[in-house]
Amino acid sequence: MSEHVTVALRGREHSYEILVGQNLLEKSGSWVKSVVSGVGKVVIISNELVFSLYGETVCASLTAARIESRVWKMGDGESFKSLETTEAALRFFSENKLSRSDAVIALGGGVVGDLTGFAAAVYLRGVPFLQIPTTLLSMIDSSVGGKTGVNSSFGKNLIGAFHQPSGVMIDVQTLKTLDSRELTAGFCEAVKHGAISGVDLFNKTSEFLKAYSVADFAAQYQRQEFAEELQRFVSSQVAFKAAIVRNDEFEDITRRDAKSRKILNFGHTVGHALEKVTDYRHFKHGEAVGLGMLAAAEISKKVANFSQNELSLLNAVVSLTEIHSDCKGIDAESVVEAFVFDKKNIASSLQWVLLEAIGKPRIVSGEEISREVVFEAISTVLARR
Ligand SMILES: NC(=O)c1ccc[n+]([C@@H]2O[C@H](COP(=O)([O-])OP(=O)(O)OC[C@H]3O[C@@H](n4cnc5c(N)ncnc54)[C@H](O)[C@@H]3O)[C@@H](O)[C@H]2O)c1
Ligand SMILES: [Zn+2]
Repeated sequence: MSEHVTVALRGREHSYEILVGQNLLEKSGSWVKSVVSGVGKVVIISNELVFSLYGETVCASLTAARIESRVWKMGDGESFKSLETTEAALRFFSENKLSRSDAVIALGGGVVGDLTGFAAAVYLRGVPFLQIPTTLLSMIDSSVGGKTGVNSSFGKNLIGAFHQPSGVMIDVQTLKTLDSRELTAGFCEAVKHGAISGVDLFNKTSEFLKAYSVADFAAQYQRQEFAEELQRFVSSQVAFKAAIVRNDEFEDITRRDAKSRKILNFGHTVGHALEKVTDYRHFKHGEAVGLGMLAAAEISKKVANFSQNELSLLNAVVSLTEIHSDCKGIDAESVVEAFVFDKKNIASSLQWVLLEAIGKPRIVSGEEISREVVFEAISTVLARR
């Protein structure tokens, strides 16, 4: 049995379903028909690797449902999430006479999803798009919420649009082929959701990680209950992200409350800085966020009364993700510099997401936290690795 999470956006009639289950790819055709009524043709955007694993199943099901499909494969990797790739995708849409009664499908991880969503948002001022995420990170995070976009010479994800999908289909069987570091990165974002959501999701995440080792994830599928537990775990993660998005669709910049979309940035201030000082090559994004959360938690202990007990617990759960965290050669000073001088985040407008307790995030202005406290927190995290 698959599970449904509904994203009903506040103040709008638009809502969509996120389907989480097993062996769903073979039902892609009927799913597309049910979410985009009267659909004629679809363009699938994927990459060589993901398409070689799952493309045929999806296309066969579309054909059986009498939906015409065209496939366009983009390059694999963050560097292909660009305006150049977008332009090439738009050209493909145009050459294939894609119209507003047709649809675009993203089959892949967050890179494919973000770019496809953006291309769908701007082509003919918006065509329907559907997400079939195939990495853990894209299942629980990037495919939910309607943020789409690309990177450019002036920064990551700075060009984009809000464009909600018409539907999201998550087949947890696809995680069987995912590399273990990609799983770790996804689990770090899952721990982040737990830490800002509450004890319930935090414990669920911790229990799941204790029960199933990330290193031999694929082998776990032999245990009958595993895929079902994975499905339930992914569903609860998706439900949390959906709840946040539902009530703050466009990330209102004036909001600073504990339910605003901004809290999803927990761990990201230091995380982004760690990625930047290592030239985006050393860490997977999720891994950098894993360490970033620990730094934010150290700061929280000093300025938001976050307890030592919960700090230790968070450290333990981040370790369960089997995070690759060799930090040799990274010095705390350069990490601090990286975000202080990040044009997007000049100290006065920098907003930290801290924790008063697990499940109690607090947004604090950068001006309220001394450079020294930040430096010490980062040093502590780096020294432990
Ligand atoms: N839109 C949002 O709200 C949002 C949120 C978080 C992250 N993001 C974006 O998501 C991107 C990262 O996404 P990601 O972590 O999924 O990385 P990714 O898309 O680069 O995928 C990671 C790797 O896994 C491969 N892969 C995908 N599915 C596979 C499968 N089932 N089996 C084997 N290999 C598979 C991909 O080909 C790729 O090499 C970043 O660009 C980030 O900015 C967006
Ligand atoms: Zn992230």
